[in-house]
Amino acid sequence: MRVLTRYGLFVIITLASALAVAACGHAPTSTTSLGGNPAADGFVPGLGEIMSLQQMRHTKLWLAGQAGNWKLAEYEVEELGEGFDDVVKLHPTHKDSPVDPKDAIPRMISVPLEDCRHAIETQNAAVFAAAYDALTTACNNCHEATNFGFNRVQRPTSNPYPNQVFEPARR
Ligand code: HEC
Repeated sequence: MRVLTRYGLFVIITLASALAVAACGHAPTSTTSLGGNPAADGFVPGLGEIMSLQQMRHTKLWLAGQAGNWKLAEYEVEELGEGFDDVVKLHPTHKDSPVDPKDAIPRMISVPLEDCRHAIETQNAAVFAAAYDALTTACNNCHEATNFGFNRVQRPTSNPYPNQVFEPARR
């Protein structure tokens, strides 16, 4: 009886770990800059998912610029660039959009993004704000071009990230 119970326990533990391994095998991960485990291929984030990350970065870019945290602003511009690279790679075309994201991104976003980078280098709030507004306009122009014109973005009106410090670290 005692031996049987032990055997039963062994079977349960073995089954449980087999199930856990199987569950991990289906974890949604990717090899893109969205991060993830390269061993588990196959998950492709939707364009809407990538755009939600772009929305976050676009918000943080503004908050960083307002706080004069130019290092963080630079980081967010890089992240936005990587996000758009993901769009070109993973969603070269989109639904019945008359304009392909793979063409629209280099044509509409690359220059405003580069201008933001230069504006950040000047560390001048007014220059930065102008470049940021031009980027935001480019976002909206692409939404128009891809039949998502109802989806408009703007300068953030408040800070939704209470647990992140936007001010530069004092040394
Ligand atoms: C290729 C052109 C293109 C560019 C450039 C672009 N977008 Fe989008 N965006 C789209 C499309 C297409 C969708 C709709 C995706 C879908 O079908 O879910 C979208 C959706 C969105 C959404 C809605 C996400 C949601 O699920 O609520 C947000 C927010 C957004 N974009 C923000 C931005 C921001 C911010 C920028 C600029 C930094 C930007 N987009 C640049 C094409 C673009």
